[in-house]
Amino acid sequence: MNDSIRFILNGEDITLSNLRPTETLLDFLRLKRRLTGTKEGCAEGDCGACTVLVGRLIDGGLHYESVNACIRFVGSLHATHVVTVEHLAAQNGTLHPVQQAMVDCHGSQCGFCTPGFIMSLYGLWLSTEKPNRAQIEKSLQGNLCRCTGYEPIVKAAELVSEKRPSALFDPLEKTRADIIARLWPMQSHDTITITEGEDRLIVPGSVSALAQVLADEPKATVVAGSTDVGLWVTKQMRRLNPVVFINHLSELQRITIEDDGLTIGAGVTYSRAFAAIGEKIPALSGLINRIGGEQVRNMGTIGGNIANGSPIGDSPPPLIALGATVRLRSVAGTRSLLLEDFFIDYGRQDRNPGEFVESIFVPYPAEDVHFAVYKITKRRDEDITAVLGAFHLVLDDVGNVADIRIAFGGMAATPKRARTVEAELIGKPWTEETVTAVRPAFDVDYKPLTDWRATAEYRQLTAKNLLLRFYLETSGAPQELKRFAMAEA
Ligand SMILES: Cc1cc2nc3c(=O)[nH]c(=O)nc-3n(C[C@H](O)[C@H](O)[C@H](O)COP(=O)(O)OP(=O)(O)OC[C@H]3O[C@@H](n4cnc5c(N)ncnc54)[C@H](O)[C@@H]3O)c2cc1C
Ligand code: FES
Ligand code: FES
Repeated sequence: MNDSIRFILNGEDITLSNLRPTETLLDFLRLKRRLTGTKEGCAEGDCGACTVLVGRLIDGGLHYESVNACIRFVGSLHATHVVTVEHLAAQNGTLHPVQQAMVDCHGSQCGFCTPGFIMSLYGLWLSTEKPNRAQIEKSLQGNLCRCTGYEPIVKAAELVSEKRPSALFDPLEKTRADIIARLWPMQSHDTITITEGEDRLIVPGSVSALAQVLADEPKATVVAGSTDVGLWVTKQMRRLNPVVFINHLSELQRITIEDDGLTIGAGVTYSRAFAAIGEKIPALSGLINRIGGEQVRNMGTIGGNIANGSPIGDSPPPLIALGATVRLRSVAGTRSLLLEDFFIDYGRQDRNPGEFVESIFVPYPAEDVHFAVYKITKRRDEDITAVLGAFHLVLDDVGNVADIRIAFGGMAATPKRARTVEAELIGKPWTEETVTAVRPAFDVDYKPLTDWRATAEYRQLTAKNLLLRFYLETSGAPQELKRFAMAEA
């Protein structure tokens, strides 16, 4: 049994054996280490002022990703390398090329958001040699600037990639081999337990140890990417005890490519999951850029997006439309069920005490399948779904609907199929008349709510229009009409 969390902070080895289970990395950096370059803006993963990099070993390589320190718990950092903005400049004060580019392009006005922007740009600089405009914008989706506008910041990213200096100037490139050698022995198969007063933090050494921990503590809070749970703490001030961290478990990090589909471990982040899914199912690749910002995508997991049972999670509707299955595990063994059957009611899933989500199997759509997913939000980037529709259609030889699966988020208490609409479409010709005639069936399938994201009427109308959009995109409708439908939806 082990009783401490170990990680590297900038250049220093850290060992913590006294730690509150929900202590955030941001509080640890600012209050305990006085590393005040990392700022607190929103404390909910939206603004990016708290961005740091976290490096971890994946398949023997060291990968750095931007994350939000405000909603990341220190307990999730075992065997990682945390890099803050203080680590970038040389000891003689020479700025890192990314920092210098921000100065040269006048990319900083208030200064408060600047360290977060620098860290996001630095993450991009490390991962992408010559980023294009879209890649730069994507890397900055999770950083909000309220004064200058983004143009000088984007210019700084372009400038630094044009004049990319030698990697020898970079603090992380220079120390890569050393950091790998120091992280390697920290990885262990022992379960770590830290007790502080009545609070307990558990880092299981393996998936079977996790199953045992949850059998002993069925009410424990499982934490994967903490992009939901982090907000329970920072916004709702909830006290969680005990807390079980799972994001380090390599068995939950696997992506297995099979002949008929992909198996994605529950601990795979959005970034890695959608990169793999997008290669096999291109129609899904665009959705990733609409989920959170880069930091949230680097933390949030597919398992968390399913296990939280949210009616507005973005991955369940397309996965349901594809016919995905979820695999649950406990000490009693494993069982698989169709993802759509996992969601029973608001806040209620088919998950027994002690069970956790182990993986999800995503079948590839057959060649004759038309598949599409549409996410509707108030703001294009970094916004939560008002309505999300996913469509999986097979037409027969004469153009009639042979099979169709439609699933929506934001329309009911759970992600839900449009069973009545589907039934009315089967066997009918795939025409505008048909999709217009089935519109009333949406009122049978869905009774959406009004909230601050959208009214019930808006949601219902949007869902009906998305079916029309799908029809226009899959039919021989004139190009102008297709473009019109896409712009409107
Ligand atoms: C700024 C911001 C933007 C966001 N934008 C989006 C968005 O656009 N679309 C979207 O869908 N979501 C969005 N989210 C929500 C969040 O990112 C997702 O719900 C995410 O998938 C949750 O995964 P996680 O690993 O962070 O889960 P956690 O927060 O760690 O856990 C969430 C819940 O799932 C449970 N859990 C996690 N993993 C397992 C497991 N393997 N087995 C059993 N239980 C488990 C936890 O106990 C908890 O109840 C956003 C969040 C933030 C902060
Ligand atoms: S403080 Fe705003 S994302 Fe962390
Ligand atoms: S430079 Fe800080 S908000 Fe714009």
